[in-house]
Amino acid sequence: MNTLSADRNRRILVIDDNRAIHEDFRKILAPGLPTSAALNIAETELFGGPTNPVPKIEFEVDSASQGQEGLALVRSACAAGRPYAMAFVDIRMPPGWDGVETTRKIWEVDPDLQIVICTAYSDYSWNEMFEKLGQHDGLVILKKPFDTVEALQLAHAFTEKWWLHQQSRRKMHELENMVAARTRELQTANEQLKNEMAERARTEEVLRQAQKMEAVGQLAGGIAHDFNNLLTIIRGYVQCLNSEMQRNADVDEALREIDVAAERATKLTSQMLMFSRKKKMQPRSINLNEIIPQLGTMLRRLLDENVALKIETGGPPLTIRADPVMMEMIVLNLAVNARDAMPHGGKLLIATYEIEIKPEDCQRNPQARPGQFACIRVEDNGSGIAPEVLPHLFEPFFTTKEVGKGTGLGLASVYGIVKQHEGWVEVESELGHGARFKIFLPLEFKNPKTGTLLPKPALLVGGSETILLVEDEHSVRRLAKLLLQRQGYRVYEASSGVEALAVWETHGSEIDLLLTDMIMPGGMSGRELAEKLAGKKAQLKIIYTSGYSPDTISQNLTLKEGSNFLPKPYHPDKLIHIIRQRLDEPAPAPPALKN
Ligand SMILES: Nc1ncnc2c1ncn2[C@@H]1O[C@H](COP(=O)(O)OP(=O)(O)OP(=O)(O)O)[C@@H](O)[C@H]1O
Ligand SMILES: [Mg+2]
Repeated sequence: MNTLSADRNRRILVIDDNRAIHEDFRKILAPGLPTSAALNIAETELFGGPTNPVPKIEFEVDSASQGQEGLALVRSACAAGRPYAMAFVDIRMPPGWDGVETTRKIWEVDPDLQIVICTAYSDYSWNEMFEKLGQHDGLVILKKPFDTVEALQLAHAFTEKWWLHQQSRRKMHELENMVAARTRELQTANEQLKNEMAERARTEEVLRQAQKMEAVGQLAGGIAHDFNNLLTIIRGYVQCLNSEMQRNADVDEALREIDVAAERATKLTSQMLMFSRKKKMQPRSINLNEIIPQLGTMLRRLLDENVALKIETGGPPLTIRADPVMMEMIVLNLAVNARDAMPHGGKLLIATYEIEIKPEDCQRNPQARPGQFACIRVEDNGSGIAPEVLPHLFEPFFTTKEVGKGTGLGLASVYGIVKQHEGWVEVESELGHGARFKIFLPLEFKNPKTGTLLPKPALLVGGSETILLVEDEHSVRRLAKLLLQRQGYRVYEASSGVEALAVWETHGSEIDLLLTDMIMPGGMSGRELAEKLAGKKAQLKIIYTSGYSPDTISQNLTLKEGSNFLPKPYHPDKLIHIIRQRLDEPAPAPPALKN
């Protein structure tokens, strides 16, 4: 079979007013048709004599006698999706359009059609034809008479050209589609890349922020620790003066002022410690749905009358492992901030509920993690927070309030507490549209217990026992010694572990209790000293003291506030109380004597 096979378009249209010529073309292009006398005459006219049989390829030949008729055939062929590949058009076809006019009209319908205009006379010059038809590469002028081979060659060449033209157009179309698809893919990839870059920048920003908070936290913790020592001294001496001095009203007043100021400073350092997470926490199982409504009365007193407070709790217990006092501090801080943001009144909602955090929720907040959480939501419809303020909200000492109105430690301590409880905080706010703070805290599912009551303060009782006081800070040591001596105790002092060992050498047998700082210079910690001395005297009572929380310093040592641990700064009463309590505890049994 010929390579120019049947799937090629072999449709040819002959437009000629001489019907015999139709037959003639059919005889050449579509073999196997009967010939007639008329055909032979026409053949002679067209080709100059009878045609010789030439190997034929099947063309499908239609014919029309007038231009209009030819145009109608072209139209219906296109509409049927079977267009002609080429047409032979006679130049003179009275009474209708001539060949040039017919060609012009046909190209309006089917510009791909390859056309051979057959002319016996020079009806038109080339220039005239180009003027009428424009430059078209699908046009050939063929002078009559032409021979069979010429007609066949043209038929082959033009149908093939039509085919190649269609092929290349199809390929071009496919190529354009591929380019468009690839462009879309690239655009999508580009979008994804942009999103990833934005996401990465956001995560980096959060990380930077967290690192900054960590650094500031350490700084705040360090400062607070030093302050604690100073405050212990100030408050202790105020206490001493209070009870010993010749009293007059002015001195009384001055002492009260000093004490109030020192107490405020103590609270401040406590908040700084809270932020730096060095504050000791006393966690227990608590039900937020129980604790938060209990704050209602206090909150209502705190808020102006024109603030409508709504507390939405209830439902099953929301049990978390937390320090209840710290939880209250969180809510109080958030409520006070909300109050300050609504100077002309508004609404404050405090809600607690359980929430499941799914992995996909964690994408918008890198601090979040999946699981079941308790959420405390504090929402107001106050002034809202400006976008440039939002990133600084939790920094210590960041405040937008007037001097004296805010210290900027409220949210910093909220942040610290929440971190210490292994949770996180989220804020949503828009300037002028209020603020919504959400605190997420891990739920405790195992052994939910109701809280235990805090111990009641006991009466202050002194004693006559002997105490070894070890403290590197000179003023703190002096104060503690004074306080203890005033309660009747005998006190030996030392400023380091090594010095304490030397005191022990001479007075060890008299000493009933060791009160020692945890961290001291000189190469021996309070703990090492205690272990050494306990090795020498099993009944020795030990109390540790430190400005750091036991969590940060204990290292396998069980430290219990009020029993064997006294956090600094301490109120003189606390010192006296813990000493007595410890001394009154039954002594550990002495090791059995060997026979
Ligand atoms: N609910 C809120 N609405 C609008 N702004 C708020 C809200 N909560 C906090 N802010 C903004 O955050 C800042 C920091 O709050 P933060 O509680 O840490 O400090 P403060 O309230 O200024 O001072 P402090 O709490 O120590 O008395 C505030 O000064 C305020 O600008
Ligand atoms: Mg505040």
